[in-house]
Amino acid sequence: MIRVQNLVKTFGTVNAVNDVSFDVAEGEIFAFLGPNGAGKTTTIRIMSTLLEPSSGRIEIDGIDVEVDPEGVRRRIGYMADHPGVYERVTVGEYLDFFAAAYRVPIAERTSTVAAVVELTDLGSLRERLVAELSKGMKQRIQLARTLLHDPKVLILDEPASDLDPRARIEMRDLLMELRRMGKTIFLSSHILAELADMCTSVAILEKGRLVAAGPVDAIGRALDRGVAERRKTRTTTRTTARARLFARGHRSPRRQGRRRRNPRRRLQRPERHRLRRRRRRTLRSHPRARRGRRAARRHRARAQRARAHLPRGDARGSAVRGLR
Ligand SMILES: Nc1ncnc2c1ncn2[C@@H]1O[C@H](COP(=O)(O)OP(=O)(O)OP(=O)(O)O)[C@@H](O)[C@H]1O
Ligand SMILES: [Mg+2]
Repeated sequence: MIRVQNLVKTFGTVNAVNDVSFDVAEGEIFAFLGPNGAGKTTTIRIMSTLLEPSSGRIEIDGIDVEVDPEGVRRRIGYMADHPGVYERVTVGEYLDFFAAAYRVPIAERTSTVAAVVELTDLGSLRERLVAELSKGMKQRIQLARTLLHDPKVLILDEPASDLDPRARIEMRDLLMELRRMGKTIFLSSHILAELADMCTSVAILEKGRLVAAGPVDAIGRALDRGVAERRKTRTTTRTTARARLFARGHRSPRRQGRRRRNPRRRLQRPERHRLRRRRRRTLRSHPRARRGRRAARRHRARAQRARAHLPRGDARGSAVRGLR
């Protein structure tokens, strides 16, 4: 249904899309994945006849996008990544306007809009002003708009980017419903996990180049293998590095790691001792401690007297009393 052959697009010195080729069969939900700046939007804009390729070609339903852009536009429903919406109209008026723009015959217009509203579950919002809606709701209206002329192919640039988790599930259900109705869906995203359970095929783009393309199961398995390989290589590298250091007489990096865990501990030690000494000094000068020491002295003197059997009034006794 979609055929991309050796597509190249350059902007000055930037190679946004670099020799990309893939096919999308009829009835697929095809996920176009890649990080920021990978070239997804550029490819999608060329598909949607909004940009011309530097070289290569794209066919949609057998029609070359450069030869018959009008024919392609009739067959596709395109949703941009940051769609602008007319704000000072109601949702119903907005969809009516676009049905007219897509040349839906007047007699069918009301029923078409009603069907699309029903399908996209916009019934409760029909009388609301577009300006009053949230971003996620606006995204849903955009999707409704792409369906008005009953296109065979939907080309959606990050359709779920502004949606909350529940709205994402609703969007997924809607896309699966549209697939059952016979539409081919091409959509972009940053995250495979977001689309893995609904898409049938995947293409992964990085820095303008295609790094993988094929059925989702095969690509998922290849990615898992890649992650496992990388993990293994990293562990081996770390172990080898440790062994090499050890052979050179270094302390085991693992022990160094443990020592380093609290490097301030040793610095803290003198401080701890200083505090303990100060606390002892403070306690020693406490009135209760002083009274205690005086009582202890009296007790010692009394014990001494008892040991010497000295009468109370003698010289030593006075001396002891003088201590009190
Ligand atoms: N009109 C333009 N003029 C100059 N360079 C552009 C233009 N449009 C895109 N680029 C460049 O092409 C490259 C690919 O951009 P593109 O918008 O296709 O990426 P993307 O994969 O859609 O990224 P994102 O996930 O952020 O939407 C980027 O390096 C970008 O700077
Ligand atoms: Mg983009």
